[in-house]
This record gives sequence, C-alpha cells and structure tokens, in this order.
Amino acid sequence: MDADMPLLDVRDLRVTLTGSEKDITLVDSVSFTAGAGEILGLVGESGSGKSVTALAIMGLLDMPGLVVSGSVRFRGRELVGLSQRALRHVRGREIAMIFQDPMTAFTPVYTIGWQIDEAIRAHEKISRRDARTRTVKLLNEMGVPDPERTANRYPHQLSGGLRQRAMIAMALSCNPALLIADEPTTALDVTVQAQILDLLRGLRHDYGSGVLLITHDMGVVAETCDDVLVLYSGRMAETGPAAALFARPAHPYTTALLDSIPPLTGPRPARLPSIAGVPPSPAARPSGCAFAPRCHYAHASCTTKPPLIVWEEQEVACVLPTEGHALPPRITAGETP
Ligand SMILES: Nc1ncnc2c1ncn2[C@@H]1O[C@H](COP(=O)(O)OP(=O)(O)OP(=O)(O)O)[C@@H](O)[C@H]1O
Ligand SMILES: [Mg+2]
Repeated sequence: MDADMPLLDVRDLRVTLTGSEKDITLVDSVSFTAGAGEILGLVGESGSGKSVTALAIMGLLDMPGLVVSGSVRFRGRELVGLSQRALRHVRGREIAMIFQDPMTAFTPVYTIGWQIDEAIRAHEKISRRDARTRTVKLLNEMGVPDPERTANRYPHQLSGGLRQRAMIAMALSCNPALLIADEPTTALDVTVQAQILDLLRGLRHDYGSGVLLITHDMGVVAETCDDVLVLYSGRMAETGPAAALFARPAHPYTTALLDSIPPLTGPRPARLPSIAGVPPSPAARPSGCAFAPRCHYAHASCTTKPPLIVWEEQEVACVLPTEGHALPPRITAGETP
C-alpha cells in the first residue's frame, strides 16, 4: 500500500432514494478521507445523513429504491459496486461498525458470547473454545462485569450499556483497520460514555486503527477527534482539523453546533439553542444553501447552492468567507446578532 494512500477515501458519495415521483438525494456529494490512527468525527443534527453515509461505506444499503454512487476506496480498493459476498469479507475483518442501535448487530436468538465467537471464527480458523476465551477477554477489556456469565446471556437480558459494550467487543474482535462507530455513546451515562471514548482512543493508539466517529455532540468531538466533517441535510457544511474548526468555525451551522455543546449533566436539549427550527427533510431541501432558512447571515447569494471552498485550514460550503466577512461572530444562546 502506498504510504500516502489514506485508509479510507470517499469521493462524491451520493445516496438517492428512487421509486417515488421525484428522486430524493439523502446524501449529496460527500467527500472525505480518514487516515490510519486518526479519529474523524462525522457530526450533524438528526437526519443530516450520518448513518446513511456510514451504511453506504459499509455496503449495507443494498436494498430496492436506494442507489449509491461515487467512490469509496478502502486501502485503494473500490468498494462501491463490489458484490455482497466480497463486501462481507471486508466487513468485520477490515472495517467494523458499531451500530446506532445495538439490536441491529445482534440477533435475539443466540447468546451474545456465541455471536462474538462466530464473528471471530468467520475470519479466523480457531476452535470454539479458543474463540470463547478471546470473547471473554474482549468483554473483560470492555469493562463488562462477570464476562463469562454475561457471554451466556441473550441480548435482551442485558442493559443498554452492556449491550453497547458487547457490540463494541464484537466490532473489535478482529482488530479492524477501520472502525465506524455510529453514536456509540448516545444512550449511555456520562461515566460509561467516557470509558467508551477512552476505548476508541486506545484502539487508534494501540492498533493504529482509523475511526469514523458519528455523533451529534460537539463535546464528544472536542474530546476525541482529530478531524471533523459537519453534515447538514446530507451535504458537507464544513470540514477540517478539529482544532481549527473549534477555534475559527467558518460555517454559521458549525458555530451553532459549537454553541449547543450540551451540559455535562442533565437532559440534552432537543434542539440547537442558538438557532431556531429543524433541518429540512431531504425531500424538501431548499434549492440554494440548505441551511439558509435557519441562518442569521442569510442574504441574496444564499439562494444558489454554495460551492465548497478552501478557507484557512477548512473547506466550507458558505459564501461568507469569500465575501470577505470575517468569521460570523459566535452567538450565545438567546442572543440575536
Ligand atoms: N432506508 C431509508 N430509506 C429512506 N430514507 C431513509 C432511509 N434511511 C434514512 N433515510 C432518510 O435519510 C435521511 C438521513 O438519515 P440518517 O439516518 O442518515 O440521519 P442521521 O444523521 O444518522 O440522524 P440521527 O442523528 O437521527 O441518527 C433522513 O431524512 C432519513 O429519514
Ligand atoms: Mg443516525
């Protein structure tokens, strides 16, 4: 493998929903790279296309009515268009995914230990007994109490937090080169959340794995990620090194997300405190900038779709920087600019 070749190189990824009167673009021309040993955060509000992007990369959108186009190169190899058989080979061993809903990863009819054993045995010729030893060790590393006994339980017998840890154990069982973690901590309390973020950092550090971390929590990004990609309504709003994005957000949406970093305790606000409204559904996306209807800075130029431009260390889909506006000032909740 070329040393400069990124682990994952996604170019112009599109996911289109066909079948109704008009095609609906769920993910619209998303491009990014993720390197070995790096954690890339994929952020955006609910419905911004984070999970659909992840599932498209994994080749898990092979269903009627959904069309995936563009390019997903993993270690230089094109995954878009590969057969499900070839993809199964890549999944698990090379790319593993922690699903947003742990119940997606486990079938209810087998114990979680059996399912993790099988995941190991699907990629490695080892005995059932050796696989179980590895499973128990992994569960133990994930902080699962009494791992031998827990391995013999069924998914529905575990708490949400334990199920999440078991799923992470399964995802890590083959030391994947790339881990896609879809909201791995959302359902968990703060202590468990911190432990899981530690695990992800350890994975990058100990195994040099690349991690694509999906979250809508900029606090999690701040603690964990090297680079960030902000999605809005299935499109790229801004991308760049996390430090640059936090220091000088270029897109008003990034600013709004930063202003919404939830408090450490208490309930998460259902909406972004600094901007009104919710993102448009992909079927009702406005023709210009999709964020314009909620943007404090929207003006005439925003009725055309903004191209992605390079600004400082970021790429941003907003006309403000090119129009010579310095950064939009940070807005705090409740204030109007
Ligand atoms: N299988 C599907 N068929 C049709 N539309 C879908 C499908 N899966 C997702 N969508 C739509 O695609 C858009 C993006 O959904 P996605 O699940 O990727 O959002 P998300 O960013 O992961 O949100 P959340 O934070 O709530 O998980 C949404 O409008 C959703 O309704
Ligand atoms: Mg999702």
